[in-house]
Amino acid sequence: MSKVKVAIVGIGGRGSWLVGAVAKRADVEIVALCDRIVKRAEYMAQKCQLASARIFTDIHDLLASVDCDAVMVTTSDAHHCEVVLPALKAGKFVFCEKPLEISLKACRDIIAADRKAGGKTFVGFNLRYAPVYAKVKEVIDSGRLGKLLTIQADEFYDGGRTYFRRWNRFRSEGGGLWITKASHDFDLLAWFAGAKPVEVYAAAEKTYYVPRPGAAMQCRDCQFEATCPDRAPREAAPLVKIREEAGGEPHDLCLFNAPSDTFDHGIATVTFEGDILATYTCNVVAGFSDRRIRVAGTKAAVEGSLSGKTLTLRQRDPSASTEIPIDVDLAISHGGADGDVQDSFFRFVRGAGEPKCRPQDAFTPVCLGLAATLSGDTHRAVSMARYRL
Ligand SMILES: NC(=O)c1ccc[n+]([C@@H]2O[C@H](COP(=O)([O-])OP(=O)(O)OC[C@H]3O[C@@H](n4cnc5c(N)ncnc54)[C@H](O)[C@@H]3O)[C@@H](O)[C@H]2O)c1
Repeated sequence: MSKVKVAIVGIGGRGSWLVGAVAKRADVEIVALCDRIVKRAEYMAQKCQLASARIFTDIHDLLASVDCDAVMVTTSDAHHCEVVLPALKAGKFVFCEKPLEISLKACRDIIAADRKAGGKTFVGFNLRYAPVYAKVKEVIDSGRLGKLLTIQADEFYDGGRTYFRRWNRFRSEGGGLWITKASHDFDLLAWFAGAKPVEVYAAAEKTYYVPRPGAAMQCRDCQFEATCPDRAPREAAPLVKIREEAGGEPHDLCLFNAPSDTFDHGIATVTFEGDILATYTCNVVAGFSDRRIRVAGTKAAVEGSLSGKTLTLRQRDPSASTEIPIDVDLAISHGGADGDVQDSFFRFVRGAGEPKCRPQDAFTPVCLGLAATLSGDTHRAVSMARYRL
């Protein structure tokens, strides 16, 4: 079977990882790389020895001059729509990183374009492919838990150390952490609940990443550099250096003094139809990264974590507990998800499988993120009625 020809757009942190992973596949050929910062695309083409891949800075130019089957979109959150729409219009299969986008309008535009194209978009909610979450879903669908009552998800993430010096700290670029980060978890809550969300209440605070008197705006100029546990390395990683040289923000911005309009810890409560109550805790000040999940129904509860190799199933009647093994390679990032999500996308392109998440499914987590943002700002519960497609 001939190779799938793919173009990858957005060669930053996630995109460069993707280029490296796809370049190793025997069934796919990377025919083009595209980034507004041309040197990022050139750097990755050279690093992965993609001698025949063409380099672009604009998706329209790419589509006009390259023959490809699929476009993989790893631009930052507020820049998905501007790439996905022309790619769909040109008849390509599209892999769109999570979240779908950050505004209702952009999401609706993608959903409409995808429908017009006949359903060619695969949304990269990779956690649906993580063996632990796939197994939780299987247990729920088997009926072993009975009628669902509660879903608890939490995330502790060491990544505040980078988020607060990157675009992720701005609502205008990532929708705030309720979208750029929590969309993963809101997607899982909705997927597990299998029901429509009705109401959201969220509390969110920024307590750690707040201005520090006496600290400079960049680590290199800061009197606390030697002792600050959150200092940036003196030398930027190659792609970050390229961004910096292209006029982007310095790599060693002070996490505390750089302006930001999102939070560093928050808790959201979501009520779903059928009286299913869900919570999500987000903490990006943690010194470790892990996600835990517990889903409980009238017959049993199941729990596990992204770093674990078993699920615990606690049955109510008769009271008993069993361990369910999970077949997972934890060396693969995101709890083993990142290999399967790619395989699944390329199978979809070949007409041999369906995405677990299509744009209309990915609309819900964005709506939940918007509702949580509004709730956190106003300290009131927000009805989901206003966010229908
Ligand atoms: N699924 C996951 O687990 C996961 C993990 C990390 C990041 N992500 C997602 O991946 C995406 C990229 O995140 P990142 O951290 O790599 O961001 P990044 O800022 O490191 O990289 C984004 C790149 O896109 C480029 N770009 C933006 N708009 C463009 C356009 N219109 N045309 C061409 N290039 C454009 C930028 O120049 C930049 O190089 C985000 O949507 C993020 O949420 C997903």
